[in-house]
Amino acid sequence: MCGIVGYVGKQKAASIILEGLKRLEYRGYDSAGLCVLQGGRLDVAKKAGRVDVLVKEAAKHHFNGSTGIGHTRWATHGGVTDANAHPHVSSDGKFALIHNGVIENYSGMKKFLIGKGYTFQSETDTEALCNLIAYHYAKEPVVKNGGSRFLESVRKSLRHVEGTYGIAVLCLDCPDEIVAARKASPLVLGVGDQEYIVASDASAIVSHTQSVVYLKDGELVHLTPRTFSITTLDQADVSPVVDKITWTITDADLNGYSHFMEKEIFEQPLALENTMRGRFSEDGSTAQFGGLNLNAAEFRQIDRFLFCACGSAWHACLVAEHLIETFARVPVEVDYASEFRYRNAPLDRNTLCWVISQSGETIDTLAAMREAKRKGHRVLALNNVVGSTIAREADGGIYQHVGPEIGVASTKAFTSQLLLGAMIALYIARMRDMSFSDGAQYVQALKGAPDLVRTALKQAPQIKEIAKRYAKHADFLFLGRLSLFPIALEGALKLKEISYIHAEGYPAAEMKHGPIALITENCPSVFLVPKGDVFNKIVSSMQEIKARKGPIIAIVTEGCELPPGVADDVITIPDCHPAVLPIVATIPVQLLSYYITLERGCDVDKPRNLAKSVTVE
Ligand code: F6R
Repeated sequence: MCGIVGYVGKQKAASIILEGLKRLEYRGYDSAGLCVLQGGRLDVAKKAGRVDVLVKEAAKHHFNGSTGIGHTRWATHGGVTDANAHPHVSSDGKFALIHNGVIENYSGMKKFLIGKGYTFQSETDTEALCNLIAYHYAKEPVVKNGGSRFLESVRKSLRHVEGTYGIAVLCLDCPDEIVAARKASPLVLGVGDQEYIVASDASAIVSHTQSVVYLKDGELVHLTPRTFSITTLDQADVSPVVDKITWTITDADLNGYSHFMEKEIFEQPLALENTMRGRFSEDGSTAQFGGLNLNAAEFRQIDRFLFCACGSAWHACLVAEHLIETFARVPVEVDYASEFRYRNAPLDRNTLCWVISQSGETIDTLAAMREAKRKGHRVLALNNVVGSTIAREADGGIYQHVGPEIGVASTKAFTSQLLLGAMIALYIARMRDMSFSDGAQYVQALKGAPDLVRTALKQAPQIKEIAKRYAKHADFLFLGRLSLFPIALEGALKLKEISYIHAEGYPAAEMKHGPIALITENCPSVFLVPKGDVFNKIVSSMQEIKARKGPIIAIVTEGCELPPGVADDVITIPDCHPAVLPIVATIPVQLLSYYITLERGCDVDKPRNLAKSVTVE
């Protein structure tokens, strides 16, 4: 939540920061602000509203300094007001600070600082930290061993913080310096030619440099235009590891699409190809993964898996559960990361934990992983963002390789997680009872997934027309069974988060135990209806809805014959292998949500109250 960016170098800071904030806006978009150190003062522009509002405000300031920081906010403490927008300036006017995270002990800090004569302009937790830095700076005018007084006052203050932070700080007395630090909120340093950009993620950096350092928890970076140094909260020196970003700025552009969500839906065939590239064995009968840090014999010992995640990634876990249990016959448990972290779940010795997180920064998933590790379990991670905290702290893992996902509603990252779940199921199954020929057939099916998704995407014009007819409704049910029950949950989540229509996902047969009470001609149901064992059962559920005048959109696999009159609208998807079915069935629910949202005129990429990665509890 919240995006932060800081620049120090030879260019004008404001334009680079504003461009960075636009790229980070998906992280939070209720207010934005900027501070440039120029003319012997900390010049601040900040406004409630989107970055575009800030751009207009900034134009009044004639920013021309080359050191600055900026912030796009997702409110935690304090309402959405100009005063609560970041940067915050200490009451002595010496420090400006931007912050992503939560200072949990801010009220004690604030009380203490008020006692010392510091004053507050906002209701935020952040302002307390800013004033605390000013307090330490004023208290200790001389730093031992010729160190930086600015850096040491930030370090000292952070030692008092309980909570999470990614921060960047300016100091009036050090006109071309920034100190930034992180704990449980992401921070990446872009290393340019005599210029540095520090930001919440690489999208704010990649148009300036591909060279980055992913900062770790408890690290501080001190930037000047000529050099940078990284140290820990305990003052230990850190040797930086400079990585290369593997994607380019065009991957983070709209490239002719109207919205990132639309772009990312249509990118899915390519995203799936990138996810599976190089990950099948030479004999073509199983999957292989480079980074599990667990050999086949060790993997063979595992007799139970636990998957933890949040939101869409949790739905991906449910599909993985179904496929692993079906094909590998190994029991799987799926938990919400936010529940697992507090419920002290009993885990036996041979349980392997997996966490799934696109961003690799979701705080609940990170905390679940840490808790499992504290209990001595090995944790593997599926992540998209390279160098993210979860990716770094996991014992091993698999990158999704789908490029930046910018639309707040997850699409291509979700189907890539489904694909990896299917590949993990195959990997485990082949170690157990799956034959070579079944494995080879499974591999061929996965390799065909991108083309099947291309075929499913061709239904877009028809789904757009259907969306026009249904967009007026206030409630929806999404119903599916077995591996498509999680896709029903995903369909309902997609629809509610971007169109604000109330939607619920249910196992189709469970609907008669309560939700059927909602059915009227104004509550449509979206049924996922594949060929196979439960086809007739699902049709019976549809009949029950029809008998109560509920409108039905049926998403059916090719070749399914529905009884006449049971569905009002039918969307056909290709028939496919069970491991691929959840991926292909996801396409129409994504498109339906997208087009309904367009029809209702909502902001597809920046839905209200949401932010892309949830780095606060
Ligand atoms: C929904 C969505 C969220 C995320 C969830 C976890 O469209 O995007 O539900 O799936 O916040 O995020 P990650 O995968 O980054 O941990």
